[in-house]
Amino acid sequence: MWIKNIKIENFRNYENEKIELNKNINIFYGQNAQGKTNIIEAIYLSSIGKSFRTNKEKELINFNKNNSKLEINFEKSDRDGNIIINLENKKNILVNGIKIKKLSELLGNINVVIFTPDDINILKGGPQNRRKFLDVMISQLRPKYTYIYNLYLKVLDERNTYLKKIENQNNDLLEIYDEKLAEYGYEIYKYRFEFIEKIKNKIINIHKNITNNNEEIDIKYTSDCMDKNKFLLLLKERKKLDILKGYTTKGIHRDDFSIFINDLLINVYGSQGQHRTSILSLKLAELQVIYDEIGENPILLLDDFMSELDESRRKNFLENIKDTQVIITCTHKFELENAEFKLFNVSNGKVFF
Ligand SMILES: Nc1ncnc2c1ncn2[C@@H]1O[C@H](COP(=O)(O)OP(=O)(O)O)[C@@H](O)[C@H]1O
Ligand SMILES: [Mg+2]
Repeated sequence: MWIKNIKIENFRNYENEKIELNKNINIFYGQNAQGKTNIIEAIYLSSIGKSFRTNKEKELINFNKNNSKLEINFEKSDRDGNIIINLENKKNILVNGIKIKKLSELLGNINVVIFTPDDINILKGGPQNRRKFLDVMISQLRPKYTYIYNLYLKVLDERNTYLKKIENQNNDLLEIYDEKLAEYGYEIYKYRFEFIEKIKNKIINIHKNITNNNEEIDIKYTSDCMDKNKFLLLLKERKKLDILKGYTTKGIHRDDFSIFINDLLINVYGSQGQHRTSILSLKLAELQVIYDEIGENPILLLDDFMSELDESRRKNFLENIKDTQVIITCTHKFELENAEFKLFNVSNGKVFF
């Protein structure tokens, strides 16, 4: 799949730009704070329906304007498509001219895999970073996942509210919440387990290649919801504690996975270089999993990613990605010998080519 063009109106520091993209590699270069990442953000928003930088959508609208609009025309192996995102007080989204009711209707139209300097937090940061990585990947491929996950979050929220005001500990309502939490939690566990297995199957070889067979990578998933009945028991056991704390201390919202290099936990023992190659392996594994699922390559968004690689690795990486649209941002322009590419200069909210 590939994005043919993108129209950006009053988004971040842009006013009115139309960008015609190349089917293969697109390089946006320019100094800092000119609007390079804003382009990646616009594409990501059109794919996932949310920004990767903020939850406050008002920040996305140009400071001097009241509303913003993005429009993308894309092509897939079996169809053309059009996405429009309007941001005003409320966000509304049109897919092929039809206004969608749920965000899950947007997902899966344009598939993306994003690489940003912050990705290192998937390894180094808290478990919420790893859950987000999984959630974004799975929701692109299984619309039902987002639906069940939202149901889970709603019950969780209700249960937490209830825990805070509960006085009588023999309350039936808690059991109803527990039952629902276990039902949805187990469903989510099955999806996450399935996708961690898929990633695992890919990442082992990818990582061997990247490290010339020097390192063996492994992933371990930990969850409270591996078994519905055991999770129900756990909720019962923790009832007093949950009431004391005023929130639910166990569940799918506490899931995590660990990455090991040669049997050592990466976030404890990993070097800077090992973190970098592991995140690259993880993202390339994600790319292959998406490819296997949908039968075509997702679009690669590489924000400032190239600056992390030396020149030969960068060329090697890009020249090895075939039949994939790649959108790159970087501070210095560079050329490629064995690949088709288009250069764009970004300066103060304007794009020149
Ligand atoms: N809502 C907004 N309205 C206008 N300008 C914005 C808005 N949000 C961010 N900016 C500006 O966008 C620029 C940062 O763009 P960004 O794409 O992150 O830069 P870079 O080229 O370094 O990737 C900054 O100059 C910032 O002030
Ligand atoms: Mg940037």
